[in-house]
Amino acid sequence: MAKITMDGIEYEVSDGLTVVQASAEVGITVPHYCYHPTLPAPANCRMCLVELTLPGAPGPLRQLATGCSTRVADGMVVNHETPTVQAARASSLESLLAHHPLDCPTCDQAGECELQNFAHKFGHDVGNYAETKKTPPRKHLGPNVDLFTTRCVVCTRCARFTEEVSGDAVLSLVNRGGKNEIDVYPGIPIDNKLSGSVVDLCPVGALSSTDFMYRSRPWFLEEVDSVCTRCSKGCNITVEHRDGETVRIKPRLNEDVNGFWMCDDGRYDCDYVSSPDRLRMPLAREGDDLVACGWSDVFDRIAGAVQAAGGENVAVIASAWSTNEELHAVRRFATEAVHTSLIGLLSAAGDDEDTVYPGFTIEKDKNPNRAGARLILGEEVAQDSAIWEVLRRANAAIIFSGIPDAELSDDAVATLAALGFLAVVDVGTSALTALADIVIPGTTYTEKDGCFTNSQQRVQKLNAAHRPLGTAMREWEFVRYAAEALETEFDYTDEASVTADLVASTPAFAGVTLEVVGERGHVLGSGEAEPETNDGNYAYARMFWK
Ligand code: SF4
Ligand code: SF4
Ligand code: FES
Repeated sequence: MAKITMDGIEYEVSDGLTVVQASAEVGITVPHYCYHPTLPAPANCRMCLVELTLPGAPGPLRQLATGCSTRVADGMVVNHETPTVQAARASSLESLLAHHPLDCPTCDQAGECELQNFAHKFGHDVGNYAETKKTPPRKHLGPNVDLFTTRCVVCTRCARFTEEVSGDAVLSLVNRGGKNEIDVYPGIPIDNKLSGSVVDLCPVGALSSTDFMYRSRPWFLEEVDSVCTRCSKGCNITVEHRDGETVRIKPRLNEDVNGFWMCDDGRYDCDYVSSPDRLRMPLAREGDDLVACGWSDVFDRIAGAVQAAGGENVAVIASAWSTNEELHAVRRFATEAVHTSLIGLLSAAGDDEDTVYPGFTIEKDKNPNRAGARLILGEEVAQDSAIWEVLRRANAAIIFSGIPDAELSDDAVATLAALGFLAVVDVGTSALTALADIVIPGTTYTEKDGCFTNSQQRVQKLNAAHRPLGTAMREWEFVRYAAEALETEFDYTDEASVTADLVASTPAFAGVTLEVVGERGHVLGSGEAEPETNDGNYAYARMFWK
């Protein structure tokens, strides 16, 4: 720890922090645009100026120092609020605002914009610039990103991201001096799988997401912490929602998983959550059609089919998109209610290899909870193509899916068509539901609480943003009632009761409470809960990373 004095008060802050981070750690805002803690600091915006006295020096440096490129040292004295500092910041802001349009009323960033925030807190109330403002054109930089060039403060964060993290350097500054603009090279759009991150990084409303554009004012959105489902990395995310609809997904800092970033698959491939094809009520087959039915029909037909086939001839296929809690409930349902050993794990098809960028890796396994499933169902559980062998040995099957866009081969269709009875739990109409006798509406990751276990064996918590659609039940509820129809009682009242049952009965999860999981997850077998560190990036994220 370093002992430093800021604005007359002595603090102990973590070693090695920049003045911006150390100030954030103790709750002091240092305004800045070009700085981001994971990128090189060009110190070009001049917003973060502070008065600095070096350790042992008799007085402050003659010039103000940039807080973004100065690291704290024992005995340092920092002043954020001297008249010179205030005047310097206000004049930097005035120059950044000289050409800025007055389009806050239609800007998606309004309400979460550092130009608004810092101008309000640190700026002049009048500007001296009386010339005509520049009006460079809006640019479509790539499929997910537009640049409102007039709003850009030329901080170059976005360009440095493409150099350091995505590594393709597709964004750069063109022209010189006052005509500096961000642009792509002719014919080379920003079209990598990390492109949405430059929108997160832009401190103003210059870079805009074509997906989010004009969909909602940010202040109407509610937020919950969650975990991405699109691969086994398990990036920490914030789900922003409004009136039961998921509107925007943003990354949430976890230094041990995804840092500040997430990929575009996880960010944008969530349309299925609000799709009109979502299932809202159970369906039963009548001839070629699936027609709405009541829940009592569902449980009667499942119980009848299990009794007719004999439990040992019924396959129960769990899903690598289900939570640990759901997988545990399904395992108990299979072994204690159905009495079968024909258990398998349905999973989404993966890539041949990870997608590796210099500063971020997207994992090839496109399932959020294969690791949890293997711990709960057993390492030997039939997975991938092996589940079709399990299904070929069965006369009836209950399949839990929830995997959007799951595809079936001709052989898989023939295997399912040969079953005497098929019940499918899914979130929308799918190739599986098309073959089912009973279709049960399931829940997406935005509609349930629970935990996933990522490829690091890190248990991470997701939280429901919305209620299940229509009359859909959460999977553990469906399992409880289906077991009851088979005269087996599960003492489940909510997700927490399933978590408690999982932890009590599965050695790999022993001692894993929600407190232990915390905001950043818990690696199974790592002993004590990881301490809640308060290092610079987390302090920075709490203050500036919305
Ligand atoms: S577009 Fe945004 S991130 Fe890029 S230089 Fe301009 S203000 Fe900075
Ligand atoms: S890397 Fe994987 S977990 Fe992270 S955002 Fe992308 S798909 Fe989701
Ligand atoms: S944040 Fe320090 S100069 Fe830009």
